[in-house]
Amino acid sequence: MLNLKKIRADFPILSRKVNGKPLVYFDNAATSQTPQQVIDVIVDYYSNYNANIHRGVHTLSQEATDKYEAARQTIQAHFNAKHAYEIILTAGTTESINLVASGFASILQKGDEIIVSALEHHSNIVPWQMLCEKTGAILKVIPMNLEGELEMDSYTQLLSNKTKLVFVNHISNALGTINPIETIIEQAHNVGAAVLIDGAQACPHIKPDVQALDVDFYVTSAHKICGPTGVGMLYGKQEWLEKLPPYQGGGEMIDQVSFEKTTYAGLPHKFEAGTPNISGGIAFGAALDYMNAIGFDNISEYENELLKYGTKELLKIEDLKIYGTSKNKTSVISFNIKGIHPYDIGTLLDKMGIAVRTGHHCAQPIMTFYNIPGTVRASFAFYNTKEEIDVLVNGVKKAKMMLS
Ligand code: ALA
Repeated sequence: MLNLKKIRADFPILSRKVNGKPLVYFDNAATSQTPQQVIDVIVDYYSNYNANIHRGVHTLSQEATDKYEAARQTIQAHFNAKHAYEIILTAGTTESINLVASGFASILQKGDEIIVSALEHHSNIVPWQMLCEKTGAILKVIPMNLEGELEMDSYTQLLSNKTKLVFVNHISNALGTINPIETIIEQAHNVGAAVLIDGAQACPHIKPDVQALDVDFYVTSAHKICGPTGVGMLYGKQEWLEKLPPYQGGGEMIDQVSFEKTTYAGLPHKFEAGTPNISGGIAFGAALDYMNAIGFDNISEYENELLKYGTKELLKIEDLKIYGTSKNKTSVISFNIKGIHPYDIGTLLDKMGIAVRTGHHCAQPIMTFYNIPGTVRASFAFYNTKEEIDVLVNGVKKAKMMLS
C-alpha cells in the first residue's frame, strides 16, 4: 500500500498550477517527474564537490569519482548485473542502442538478418536500418495484432541461423504492451542470435533481472525512473562488451596513446569517452534508491489499479477507442475519439492543466498499422491518483463536447 500523500509531497512540481488549474501530469511515459531527494543530490554535487572524475588526485575529484562509481554499483545491483563494469553509463537509451549498433557494424556480414518488432520506438528501428545500410544485413519485422501484441508464431518463423541480432522493447511506449521477452530471448539464443532489450518503458514499472533474463544487452534512461535527463545505461554481457569496438574515441577510454597506435582501456571505460554527465550518473543511482525504497511490487500493483480504473472510466465515453488492449500491459492508455484529431484534445486538456502526449509517440509504424494519425496518450505513474483520472475523464468529456 503506497502512502500517496507522503509520496506526492516528495515531488515539488506536483503542487504547481498550469493554466490556472492544478497540474495533472499524465505524460510519464515521455518523462517522469523528479523527487526532491534526487534534486537534492544534483544540487549537492554542484554545491559541494563539482569536479571531473577519474582524473584528479585532489579531494573533490576523488569524492566525485567515488560517488559516480557508487552509483554504477547501485545500478548494477538494481539490474542484478554480474559485474559493475558491465554497466556502461551513457546519455540515455538512444545512445545505448546506437553504441551497440555501431559496434555491430564490424561484426555483421552481408545477408545476416536482424529482427525488430512492429512495436518499436523509432530509436529501436532507425539505428538498425542504418546498420543494415552499412553492412548489407537484412531487417525483418515481427508483426503485431490488433490488440497491440506481437505475433509470436511469426517470430518463431523469422528466426534462422541467418539471424544474428534481435531487438525488441520490453514494453511498448505507444501502447503499454508488455512483450514476452523471456521467450523472445530464449528462442533467439536457440539460433545463436544476440538480443538487445529496450527497457526505457519497463524500468519505471518493474525491476528487470538481467542475469535471470540471460539477456545480452539491456538499455534504459534515468529520466523515465525519476532521475535526470541526459543519462542512461547500457548493460552488456562481459563477452559482448569485450567483442564490440569502442563507440567514440577520446579521453578516458584509452590505455596508451601514441601517434603510431592507441590501445583502449578496459570495461567500462572503453565505452565512456569524454567527461560524462557526472551529477546525472550520481542522481541516476539516487533515483533507483528512491524507487526501491517505495518498492517495485507496490508500484506496479498500484499502477495496475490506476490502469484498470482509467480504462473503465474512459471507455464510458461514447466513441472513445483505446489502442493497445493486451491483458499484459502497463499503465499507458492510448486513445482517440471518433472524428476528433488527437492534437485538438491534447491542446484543450492542457488548458485544463492536464498534461498528456499526443501524436505518433515516435512509433509511426504502429499508427500506420491502425491507420490513424496518432493518439492521445495518458500514462500514469505511482504518484498519480484516481482523483486525477476523474479530472482527465471530465476533461476529455468537455473537450469532446467543444470539438464535436
Ligand atoms: N519515448 C518517449 C515517449 O514515449 C519520449 O514519449
